Amino acid sequence: MSDDRIFDVQNVTLRFGGVVSLNDVSLHQDRGEILAVIGPNGAGKTSLFNSLTGVYQPQEGVITFVGRDGKPISIIGKKPHKVSGAGVARTFQASRMFSALTTFENVKIGAESHRGFGAVGAMVKGPVTRRGERASDAKTVELLDFVGLRAKANTLSASLSYGDRRRLEIARGLATNPQVLLLDEPAAGTNPSEKLGLANLIRKVRDDMGVSILLIEHDMKLVMSLAERLYVLNFGSVIAQGTPAEVRSNPDVIEAYLGSSAEEMEGQT
Ligand SMILES: Nc1ncnc2c1ncn2[C@@H]1O[C@H](COP(=O)(O)OP(=O)(O)O)[C@@H](O)[C@H]1O
Ligand SMILES: [Mg+2]
Repeated sequence: MSDDRIFDVQNVTLRFGGVVSLNDVSLHQDRGEILAVIGPNGAGKTSLFNSLTGVYQPQEGVITFVGRDGKPISIIGKKPHKVSGAGVARTFQASRMFSALTTFENVKIGAESHRGFGAVGAMVKGPVTRRGERASDAKTVELLDFVGLRAKANTLSASLSYGDRRRLEIARGLATNPQVLLLDEPAAGTNPSEKLGLANLIRKVRDDMGVSILLIEHDMKLVMSLAERLYVLNFGSVIAQGTPAEVRSNPDVIEAYLGSSAEEMEGQT
């Protein structure tokens, strides 16, 4: 395995009864890379994320993550909170924030659960948690600033725009001090100008924080402009990989997309 690899996935197969969600998948991510996984609906993209984060346990294969200390750890068999503690953060395809809380509170819970106080510790202000709480407050403000939500710190997250909710989810992911951030359709439901803003933010996370980015995204224009390299999944298998230019001109990829929408590959949607 190369020295600067952050994820290494070897021959991973994941089955649910008769359904094969991931079929002998091998891929890797270099540290600092913005990598994307694309493919039609049902291709196995979210299953891959769930396998990388300890939510699903593939029956076959090896997933290695190299954390901040450079020590490789094996992901299969680890609980999601252990994987998160090792430096893997994610956002979800469907928003999972606490809509009755403010922007600030949502990010702070991320910061405190990472410090080991849990969501309850974040609410119950016992003496033990107070010093940690001040640190979390400062970190929360810093993160809100970074994602461009500082002015909306006290807004209830339910009343944020789609674009701002996506920013909030990125801030929550960053609150755990990750080495890599997995983004499942981070621009879903947003308008073109919000998409552009999110693309710039994602690039800034990598450039300024040094966090590697692994991205699932349907918007071809966005993914082709953001990703340095891509893997294409179809029916659970990797059918292509390479730079955006290589993937775009790959006949297998064009064929896989013809069924759904040929224009998708042209970045018209
Ligand atoms: N928990 C699960 N139980 C049963 N089948 C699942 C489960 N998760 C995913 N699958 C199946 O795996 C396949 C890939 O799904 P998914 O990973 O969500 O695809 P994508 O994110 O690319 O749209 C689908 O056939 C889906 O029904
Ligand atoms: Mg999905």
